[in-house]
Amino acid sequence: MIGRHRHCLALEDFSRAEILEVLDLATSMKEVLRRPIKKVPSLRGKTVVNLFFEASTRTRSSFEIAAKVLSADALNWTASGSSVTKGETLLDTARNLEAMRPDVLVIRHAAGGAPRLVADHVACAVVSAGDGAHEHPTQGLLDAFTIRERLGTLEGKTVAVVGDVSHSRVARSDLHAFRRLGAKVRFCGPPTMMPAGADRLGAEVHHDLRTALEGADAVVMLRIQHERIGDPLIPGTREYSRHWGLDARKARAWLAPGAIVLHPGPINRGVELSPDVADGERSVILDQVQNGVAVRMAILYLLAGGEPAEARA
Ligand code: CP
Repeated sequence: MIGRHRHCLALEDFSRAEILEVLDLATSMKEVLRRPIKKVPSLRGKTVVNLFFEASTRTRSSFEIAAKVLSADALNWTASGSSVTKGETLLDTARNLEAMRPDVLVIRHAAGGAPRLVADHVACAVVSAGDGAHEHPTQGLLDAFTIRERLGTLEGKTVAVVGDVSHSRVARSDLHAFRRLGAKVRFCGPPTMMPAGADRLGAEVHHDLRTALEGADAVVMLRIQHERIGDPLIPGTREYSRHWGLDARKARAWLAPGAIVLHPGPINRGVELSPDVADGERSVILDQVQNGVAVRMAILYLLAGGEPAEARA
């Protein structure tokens, strides 16, 4: 359980205390990852099934590593090569895998709400690894963890989330996590990539990158989610990059000296982020990836019913 939750489906449902419970445990989990022998028995005898209906590098790998460091067995399932190609439905797939008695199902799916639908029909814990343009809760948690680690706190900080906000599940999870932890969130992007009612969700809406970055403590750059866009929403990537891409010149001129740059990946280098910023001193992008393992260890531990706290490490 995380607070009152049996599943991790959306940060919109999580309180500040529940988010802090995960982040604080992830801090201990990160210490385990720094040991020469990265293995603890906390989830021995438990099974985690990764059910990915969409491509992934970071999320799937980090859930697998997280499970293995905690001594759980991990099964990686992908839609290609499965009976989904013969017409089997999401629910039939999930129920059949559940019949093999996993403790946690981690699901990524192109349809918003798919993990919740599965959670309503299975007995084991379900974690969303990203569903459509809805939420990517563990990404929101690892982004909050990374900002807290670098800046000490999110309380009173300003975080700009820039790019294709409309189609981004990361933007929604970040918004909920950052606001719960006391940060002010600015959304910035072309009007065609800004969801209606973004201000009612609690974000300050900007269309000009310079004003969005001024005074920001952290900026999360997003890629254009081509896989979720029908007709083109921008004239071209060159124009997009000129207005909403971040390069070293803009970062130097518009960002505060200590401001950090995040990106959930994968990066389209030269579009939303230039290589000199992606690989530069402000970038915490690889920290995000490393922290993703620690945060997912915490989530699996809390939901799979690990050993008591004193036996965690
Ligand atoms: N951030 C993220 O979800 O990356 P992947 O698509 O590689 O998992």
